[in-house]
Amino acid sequence: MQPSVEANQRIARISAHLQPSNLQMEGNSSLRRADCRAKGGAPGFKVAILGAAGGIGQPLSMLMKMNPLVSVLHLYDVVNSPGVTADVSHMDTGAVVRGFLGQPQLENALTGMDLVIIPAGVPRKPGMTRDDLFNINAGIVRTLCEGISKCCPNAIVNLISNPVNSTVPIAAEVFKKAGGTYDPKRLLGVTMLDVVRANTFCEVLGLDPREVDVPVVGGKASLLIDFAEETEYLTNRIQNGGTEVVEAKAGAGSATLSMAYAAVKFADACLRGLRGDAGVVECAFVASQVTELPFFASKVRIGRNGAEEVYQLGPLNEYERAGMEKAKKELAASIQKGVSFIRK
Ligand SMILES: NC(=O)c1ccc[n+]([C@@H]2O[C@H](COP(=O)([O-])OP(=O)(O)OC[C@H]3O[C@@H](n4cnc5c(N)ncnc54)[C@H](O)[C@@H]3O)[C@@H](O)[C@H]2O)c1
Repeated sequence: MQPSVEANQRIARISAHLQPSNLQMEGNSSLRRADCRAKGGAPGFKVAILGAAGGIGQPLSMLMKMNPLVSVLHLYDVVNSPGVTADVSHMDTGAVVRGFLGQPQLENALTGMDLVIIPAGVPRKPGMTRDDLFNINAGIVRTLCEGISKCCPNAIVNLISNPVNSTVPIAAEVFKKAGGTYDPKRLLGVTMLDVVRANTFCEVLGLDPREVDVPVVGGKASLLIDFAEETEYLTNRIQNGGTEVVEAKAGAGSATLSMAYAAVKFADACLRGLRGDAGVVECAFVASQVTELPFFASKVRIGRNGAEEVYQLGPLNEYERAGMEKAKKELAASIQKGVSFIRK
């Protein structure tokens, strides 16, 4: 279809405006960024990504910029966030993007946010023990959650930083300590990558991943699955999915692209819940009474207040019961480790 005469005239006017001489003149009253849409104001949700310049953070930022439910996207990191912000901000989608660099800008990054997604931290590298990883990421999550309790205590928090089974209890303790800002419904550990992998790996059963929804329960990477056949194969492959990627990347990193995809799928569910959509159900690691443990990953219904309902597991078969007992032992230790990190 040919553009109308009127549209052509408009395009001509815009391109005249964008001559290089004009673009360089930030002070020019008609082109100052402060006068532009960057002030925000469109309907939608305000979302912050903490750790936005990382392996997960960058594709996550790009995918959230594409989400029509997002009106404002804040990208925070301790390094490189201005570059990622400039890059992502050129995408011609609705969300306004703003960048924040380093601790002094954390509060500005968080103020007024509806949803905060946290992929900040370090992934496990060769030679690093689990304790090294724990100590670094635990400290990072503590600092970021202190900021959240001060600047956006009502935000929904999606925690990705590993070990999720410990960082979620850490966040809970920080919010409790901050006095009255802990709402268990609003704190969700992201276990979505396990679900995404489970759906995909079901190809061995001849299934199309778009047509299956495998609930993965327990905790992050210590789980059992609610599926009948090929259970052993699928359980092992999901539990070792992270290692499969680390080995294939051969020293060049861990799961980042599939994790970003999973995080966006989960964040989108949270935004639909916040909007008031009915029947939004996903798996997440949350405060729970499903077992005797204080946190557990299972299906939750997400609404305006976060995880409004945590579903029971339903009847378990013999294989699932054995997996459950094993998972609970590991989980109890991880949860305790997180709690002690803050209470010590
Ligand atoms: N939940 C899951 O299923 C899952 C899956 C994969 C990875 N992860 C975890 O996600 C985290 C990030 O992984 P990655 O591969 O993106 O790592 P990465 O090292 O590529 O990126 C991490 C980013 O966090 C930033 N960062 C560090 N300290 C920060 C702070 N105090 N404030 C803000 N940002 C800070 C770094 O500058 C970096 O840009 C790791 O802990 C990893 O283990 C979780």
